[in-house]
Amino acid sequence: MNAFTVDGEPLPFLPGQTLAAALVASGRVAWRTTRDGRRPRGIFCGIGVCYDCLVTVDGTGGQRACLVQARAGMAVTTGEADDE
Ligand code: FES
Repeated sequence: MNAFTVDGEPLPFLPGQTLAAALVASGRVAWRTTRDGRRPRGIFCGIGVCYDCLVTVDGTGGQRACLVQARAGMAVTTGEADDE
């Protein structure tokens, strides 16, 4: 089974899925909050335009989950300062 981790928990994915697709498929629809008001955000446009889906991937923040293809062993973290 292919899997990456999200905040330390394994998350399986199908070949070709983006991180956002795998997150949504697992039932997770929000994984960060806005700087103002702490409103929940996840996938919105799905095409890399809105920046609502930001995550940190292997220590690099500000990655758009809807554009990053999932790979086995990736370490994804959510709610980091670079992802606001
Ligand atoms: S959902 Fe809009 S940039 Fe990813």
